[in-house]
Amino acid sequence: MADTLLLLYLLFLLANSVEVWTEDHSSQFTKRTVRRTDFPSDFVFGAGSSAYQYEGAAKVGGRGPSILDVYAHTPGQVKDGSSGDVADDQFHRYKSDVELMKDLNLDAYRLSISWTRLFPEGRGNQINQAGVDHYNRVFDTLLEKGLRPFVTLQHFDTPQALEESYGGMLSMQFVEDYAKYAEACFEAFGDRVKNWITLNEPHITAWFGYSTGILPPQRCSAAFGNCTIGNSSTEPYIVAHHCLLAHAAAVAIYRRRFQARQGGSIGITLYAKSYEPLQNNSKDIAAVQRAHDFEIGWFLDPIMFGKYPTSMQYLVAHRLPKFTKDQLRAVKGSIDFIGLNHYTTMYVKAVPKPTQPGQIGYPIDSQSLQTAYRDGVAIGPLVNGHNIVPRGMRILVNYVKARYGDIPIVITENGISQIDNGSLSRAEALHDVVRVNYHKDYLLELVAGIRDGAKVKGYFAWSLLDNWEFGFGFTIKYGLYYVDYEKNLTRYPKDSALWFKQFLAHSCKFVD
Ligand SMILES: *[C@@H]1O[C@H](CO)[C@@H](O)[C@H](O)[C@H]1NC(C)=O
Ligand SMILES: *[C@@H]1O[C@H](CO)[C@@H](O)[C@H](O)[C@H]1NC(C)=O
Ligand SMILES: *[C@@H]1O[C@H](CO)[C@@H](O)[C@H](O)[C@H]1NC(C)=O
Ligand SMILES: *[C@@H]1O[C@H](CO)[C@@H](O)[C@H](O)[C@H]1NC(C)=O
Ligand SMILES: *[C@@H]1O[C@H](CO)[C@@H](O)[C@H](O)[C@H]1NC(C)=O
Repeated sequence: MADTLLLLYLLFLLANSVEVWTEDHSSQFTKRTVRRTDFPSDFVFGAGSSAYQYEGAAKVGGRGPSILDVYAHTPGQVKDGSSGDVADDQFHRYKSDVELMKDLNLDAYRLSISWTRLFPEGRGNQINQAGVDHYNRVFDTLLEKGLRPFVTLQHFDTPQALEESYGGMLSMQFVEDYAKYAEACFEAFGDRVKNWITLNEPHITAWFGYSTGILPPQRCSAAFGNCTIGNSSTEPYIVAHHCLLAHAAAVAIYRRRFQARQGGSIGITLYAKSYEPLQNNSKDIAAVQRAHDFEIGWFLDPIMFGKYPTSMQYLVAHRLPKFTKDQLRAVKGSIDFIGLNHYTTMYVKAVPKPTQPGQIGYPIDSQSLQTAYRDGVAIGPLVNGHNIVPRGMRILVNYVKARYGDIPIVITENGISQIDNGSLSRAEALHDVVRVNYHKDYLLELVAGIRDGAKVKGYFAWSLLDNWEFGFGFTIKYGLYYVDYEKNLTRYPKDSALWFKQFLAHSCKFVD
């Protein structure tokens, strides 16, 4: 069982199984066009990024290492042996990159603050002024050009010093240190930043960082990965619990000290697939619910309802941490909006409870197995490990509305990668017809979801530029802009950039 699951995860992640990027999929996409005027007039369009994947300048201005720096510099972890030391060098090139955003007619840019630029050791009474100065320049430049910053406080980059001194997210001390860092950000930047995201994809941190060990801090038990230390049956739940508490502590500070005078909003970004039952029977339909529970429900149920999903309470039982009354008070209601990172949809099948004690762990606790195939037929075209299933977008936002009500939703990531390990010419990479169709079709389904009544307020394409993608290094590309890593990181618009520019040119405000 564990081996099958592991294999599935590996296939999913390493994604070398089928590569259909270069084929023309036009027959599989709709011919309908999507227009900006199909969206509400205050709808926000943007593109996304994160500090370690973009900034480079890893040692400039006193920045300290995060767990991502350590991971990237560990031999054998990153496919092409690369790191984010230079990445897209956006630290130095933010001005010209903001020009690119402006040229695309974007309303907003999602970026993250590198915690260790502000606190090289993760904590302390002294904020690093060089880091503050940098982000002041970035936010001022964005605002000058009319772009709204959507700012993630932590995008997988826990300070290495905190990891070493007390085990990072495994410790309650993390909650306090994160809250202090967040407070410093609100204080320094909240006059200009009006949209805050506390954490990016805590479920991925708990799953990949503490359950399969493929991302830092690379902890897991033997049944689920190749780690030197860890416990996949307990640590993911502890880490997720601490993420919820850290999120809630930051939100409490924001609401108490800043929100009224700064007038911003704060939310959390969750990785969210859409799910469909493999077979139309009650077992698989229940497994679909568990798949949601163990993914977004893990965070949204405590935040919206003040308790972990019933299925998690039952299946994880004593391994699931408990909230104290005070903690619950802080967690419940602690968002103004939900950020969703949506890429793909899977079929879900119910599977039995594992029998051997060594095999108990987060990856199988949900007793649901995800697969992209039904009777040998893929749920959607497979491109570099992700199946393209546009209808999933509509189904997901309807699911979130049905379960959590009218809380605003922002699609904080949506996009598709292209393998380019040097195999593609620049001209081939720029002609990204699959990406154009992907965004077009997902946006059409998002329009349908909004018409169904989902309160979706914004959409961010992942990603503005090609960038450093963790274990894949620079070998997979998500950008609307191509970055020439051989020639001084020069940016070139892909067909998808030109498509967005056209699509966004027709501002609703002037049309109706
Ligand atoms: C994980 O922790 C639990 C609870 O402390 C323990 O029962 C189990 O043996 C541990 N598993 C591993 C692989 O260390
Ligand atoms: C597990 O990790 C060790 C050290 O990082 C490495 O030498 C070994 O090849 C890995 N084993 C597998 C099966 O990946
Ligand atoms: C699933 O089965 C139910 C009852 O048998 C039926 O009403 C429904 O249309 C089926 N749904 C799908 C998607 O086939
Ligand atoms: C590069 O990617 C292509 C698929 O796009 C694959 O066929 C080839 O083996 C890869 N080459 C290397 C060196 O990884
Ligand atoms: C590389 O690009 C940067 C930013 O455009 C520029 O300042 C620098 O002079 C370029 N370097 C070379 C060697 O062309």
